[in-house]
Amino acid sequence: MTEVLRADEAGIARAAASLRRGGLVAFGTETVYGLGADATNAAAVARIFAAKGRPRFNPLICHYPAAQAAFAHVASDHRARRLAAIWPGPLTLVLPRRADCPVALLTGAGLDTLAVRVPAQPIALALLRAVGRPIAAPSANRSGRVSPTDAAHVLAELDGRIDAVLDSGSCPVGVESTVLDLSGAQPVLLRPGGVTLEAIEALIGPVLRGVAPGAAMRSPGMLASHYAPEQSIRLNATDLRPGEALLAFGPPLPGAPVAFNLSQRADLTEAAARLFAGLRWLDAAAVRHGLNGIAAMAVPETGLGLAINDRLRRAAAPKPAPTGAEDLSAHR
Ligand code: TXA
Ligand code: MG
Repeated sequence: MTEVLRADEAGIARAAASLRRGGLVAFGTETVYGLGADATNAAAVARIFAAKGRPRFNPLICHYPAAQAAFAHVASDHRARRLAAIWPGPLTLVLPRRADCPVALLTGAGLDTLAVRVPAQPIALALLRAVGRPIAAPSANRSGRVSPTDAAHVLAELDGRIDAVLDSGSCPVGVESTVLDLSGAQPVLLRPGGVTLEAIEALIGPVLRGVAPGAAMRSPGMLASHYAPEQSIRLNATDLRPGEALLAFGPPLPGAPVAFNLSQRADLTEAAARLFAGLRWLDAAAVRHGLNGIAAMAVPETGLGLAINDRLRRAAAPKPAPTGAEDLSAHR
């Protein structure tokens, strides 16, 4: 049974004690719910991969209560120190591990780099302080499914597979953190997310967008089909076809039997916060109504729109074959 803990002092203390014993505890961050384990405990981290059905070559993000604690485990440079101004916040930095880094190698999937982040959720920060160790936490969903943005979504994905979920309500940002690779001479955007590229470039100058072809394994979570609902999704819809549900942005296309509006007033921040909950709701509603697809209206490719469009493209990508392609299907 998975225990639901209230995010009060007693609940945070219980969650911290469970994590210190090697337990699996999901907790809310400002982006999405994470599935946490003590990052220095390889056995606990192994349980994360098992609970999610996640391929072991997909590395996890380490969460810290402050930049100073993160930079004790990875080698920071002037760019990383500048970007730390964004912390606490939805930014993940990939940096070289320090030689004495106590984080289990499994956490970073054996790579010589480690992804680190300081989340902005006050309850998550209180939990990290109470544990006193880095917490490895991927999004708290089964591998390849839409990330959870409230405690009920976490239970729908992982009930019975994890020890507890610390319920801190719904996540205000709603898309995952921006992942930036600073391990080379050129900063590379590995995943658009809750911090805009504009905000990052204002601090450190130009960033290479997108991963070079063939370099997907630098961030295996970037594989095309990753955030997959059951229904097929048609992008940039300007009309509605028979049997389609509508994912709207701004004034909706008329005539949809079922619709979810990411933001009636075409606000990207509101749309990001509602994206995953909306996809979950629409997916289930479309099945109930016997529909056969989702038409998604276009979202502008600026600011948080980069992250929203990235997740929509992945949700729309063809799903890997169910058999004979075990490695790929495990990514979904
Ligand atoms: O907002 C978030 O980032 C959430 C919350 C819980 O913090 N976490 C999250 O974790 O989205 P996850 O595991 O679902 O996504 C982590 C991404 C993956 O695409 C992974 O491949 C990449 O970060 N990543 C982790 N460590 C890496 C490394 N050393 N080098 C390159 N990519 C890395
Ligand atoms: Mg994920």
